[in-house]
Amino acid sequence: MYQKLLSFLIPINIYKKNSITSQSLEVTWNNGQLVLDSMNTNYSYGSLQRILRKGLKYIGFDRIRNFESVLVLGVAGGSVIKTLVNEIKFKGNITGVEIDAAIIDIANNYFQLDKIENLEIVIDDAFEFVLKTKLKYDLIIIDIFQDTNMPNFLFEDFFIHRIKFLLNVNGFILFNTMVTNNETKARNLNYKTKFKGNYSLRRYPKVEVHNELFTIKKLT
Ligand SMILES: C[S@@+](CC[C@H](N)C(=O)[O-])C[C@H]1O[C@@H](n2cnc3c(N)ncnc32)[C@H](O)[C@@H]1O
Repeated sequence: MYQKLLSFLIPINIYKKNSITSQSLEVTWNNGQLVLDSMNTNYSYGSLQRILRKGLKYIGFDRIRNFESVLVLGVAGGSVIKTLVNEIKFKGNITGVEIDAAIIDIANNYFQLDKIENLEIVIDDAFEFVLKTKLKYDLIIIDIFQDTNMPNFLFEDFFIHRIKFLLNVNGFILFNTMVTNNETKARNLNYKTKFKGNYSLRRYPKVEVHNELFTIKKLT
């Protein structure tokens, strides 16, 4: 309680661990809220949660409540899962895929992710998971970062084809990206061209400065 109050004046770090994928993992009280950060960016419960909440708003909370299954690629502390369960009151199945087992320990110990009954966590590389899964989903949230870096596979045809295949008709993809220079700007413009025809894509630039969201609906 004392730490929470003091954190309105200065951030108070309560846990820190080195990490191969994220450089470091830090749990910090910040402005009265417990957040999870990597070395150079917020991973869960700070600006990241606000960004994904905006994306879910664009899709529509009422629509999401009627979905049956959600796939979350990149779990970290699980803040988008908390938005789905606590704010949207989503009661369907949630599958969360996360490459780093240490981050799931943090999510359980500091953010009680293991108390969510309709959540199944899979420790795996998202790329491997989408190749293997036999299920289809109404909403696929792609939120994969290694510190501030986004792996190339996310933008490559192979992964995109697989994601399209795993999405139910009338389902949505919510893709969170970071745009920081001309290269990442061009990368995102090219991404748009991958969803011609059967898909309706919307781009939401400059969400909390550097983030750009895509929502993509499968029409038929
Ligand atoms: C921004 S965080 C996710 C935040 C989370 N969606 C939330 O709402 O709190 C990005 C996560 O992607 C994970 N990640 C990075 N590469 C991955 C991969 N290839 N497969 C699965 N997860 C990966 C990182 O370990 C990190 O936990």
